[in-house]
Amino acid sequence: MFSSLNRARSLLSLIRYYSSEVLPQLTKDRYPNIKRGNYAVLTQDHLQYFVDLLGRNRVLNDPSDCETYNIDFIKSVRGYSQCVLKPQTTEEVSKILSFCDEHRLAVCPQGGNTGLVGGSVPVFDEVILSTTLMNKIISIDDISGVLVCEAGCILEELEHALGEQGLMMPLDLGAKGSCRIGGNVSTNAGGLRLIRYGNLHGNVLGVEAVKANGQIIDCLSTLKKDNTGYHLKHLFIGSEGTLGVVTKVVIHCPQKPTSLSLAFFGLESFDNILSTFKRAKKELGEILSSCEMLDAQSLNVVKTHLKLKSPIDDYPYYMVIETSGSNEQHDEEKLNRFLEGVMGDGLVMDGTVTNEPGKMRSIWDLRERITEALMYDGYLYKYDISLPIKDFYSLIPKMIERLGSDATRISGYGHIGDGNIHLNISVPKFRQDVLKKIEPYVYELTSQLKGSVSAEHGVGFRKPPYIHYSKSQNSIDLMKDLKKMMDPNNILNPYKVLPF
Ligand code: FAD
Ligand code: MLT
Ligand code: ZN
Repeated sequence: MFSSLNRARSLLSLIRYYSSEVLPQLTKDRYPNIKRGNYAVLTQDHLQYFVDLLGRNRVLNDPSDCETYNIDFIKSVRGYSQCVLKPQTTEEVSKILSFCDEHRLAVCPQGGNTGLVGGSVPVFDEVILSTTLMNKIISIDDISGVLVCEAGCILEELEHALGEQGLMMPLDLGAKGSCRIGGNVSTNAGGLRLIRYGNLHGNVLGVEAVKANGQIIDCLSTLKKDNTGYHLKHLFIGSEGTLGVVTKVVIHCPQKPTSLSLAFFGLESFDNILSTFKRAKKELGEILSSCEMLDAQSLNVVKTHLKLKSPIDDYPYYMVIETSGSNEQHDEEKLNRFLEGVMGDGLVMDGTVTNEPGKMRSIWDLRERITEALMYDGYLYKYDISLPIKDFYSLIPKMIERLGSDATRISGYGHIGDGNIHLNISVPKFRQDVLKKIEPYVYELTSQLKGSVSAEHGVGFRKPPYIHYSKSQNSIDLMKDLKKMMDPNNILNPYKVLPF
């Protein structure tokens, strides 16, 4: 999951920690109101077809081999699929889907399985279509900055390959070591640099996808400008595997900056975060490439569970601000001047600025590894909310007051530059009564504040009943019409995204 050696060691300890724990409850038992659709049950004949198509090694059907594909990253949902398929080509994906459509077998597309809303694993026994073996880079054009690759390429590996050509991916997230570009596109992933490079709807130039009936849709344009007809690629960006399986993508990649600096600040109040963000936009201007925040609980969790060290004293809030550009001296001077200014004006109480790669990595770890660290708390109720910037942190004190001793930790961190907060409520074990205290309350508050119940993680399995808090009935009806048109037998990722 994570890039460097110490991250790999930490992941191993996380795996050991979890393998000593009991498996998460099956989704069908935890959510008994959801009934299995009228799909076929996998038979030996179906399996034989898949083995004939892919060969024995690319069809997993031993329950122990299928287990990790049935459980999501945060161990919140668990399906019981007995079949994982690993196609290597678009044609194989097409044959799998047309067979499944004809035989009414439900399918769950899966990339790196790092999704945080339960969308990437089956709810019941859906066949898992894993893109892990579709991982070839097809071309990188260092003049236009256009990358063409298969959907199963790991984000971090793309980053490395592009780096050799002086380019970079326009997105970066803590899961980069495991998530796959097809998963990123299918979730319209946001991440740490969206403030600078915008979201994938802008950066994806083309998509090749396979519809539920096996038809291949080739929208693999490498052109920056192409206004011929409807922009079909957008149907697949962010539709979380419900409208088609993404098999190839074309991404417009920016130039890799030659100068990079990072600051870590301690602040006394959320108002000071807002003022510092405003000043960062004005004073850092075009070199601002990331603006993140975390509260004391979030920093505590990485200090406690991962033994990471903070370079500054303790404060109620922290910010991570990154600059990137092409003139090291100029950028560093600008960031140092900014730090002096915000400290001189009492907005930032303590801070450090660095451009040393090791020190920058250590600061990023404090922010990026919160998700991983929180899992040691036990079970996580996880929320990914967009809010008007002034209300960004407002849900956290409300949840603390509402839940009292029911929660062991309530933490808030996220992409302040994009108005996207991650609210995480830790408890030792999943409890239905705690869930009822949180939902739909948290979504009602979000809706009252005119926010979105999913900023970047998507709707997946856990949020379809709440989509109406952020979308009008007419919009939901249009989504249902599109789904019916593109997947009339509803075989693609059922029970996800749309209310069922
Ligand atoms: P999966 O988890 O395998 O799948 C996600 C969804 O996409 C599922 O609905 C699945 O069915 C569908 N899907 C996957 N591949 C395809 C395909 N080829 N065709 C059609 N559908 C497909 N997300 C953010 O937005 N921003 C962040 O900053 C961020 N940080 C994270 C940090 C950590 C530590 C972790 C664990 C997760 C983070 N995430 C973040 C969530 C997650 O990494 C992203 O949603 C990511 O884009 C998922 O990619 P994946 O390959 O793992 O997809
Ligand atoms: C993040 O910003 O760290 C991710 O979206 C993951 C999370 O919400 O935990
Ligand atoms: Zn995030």
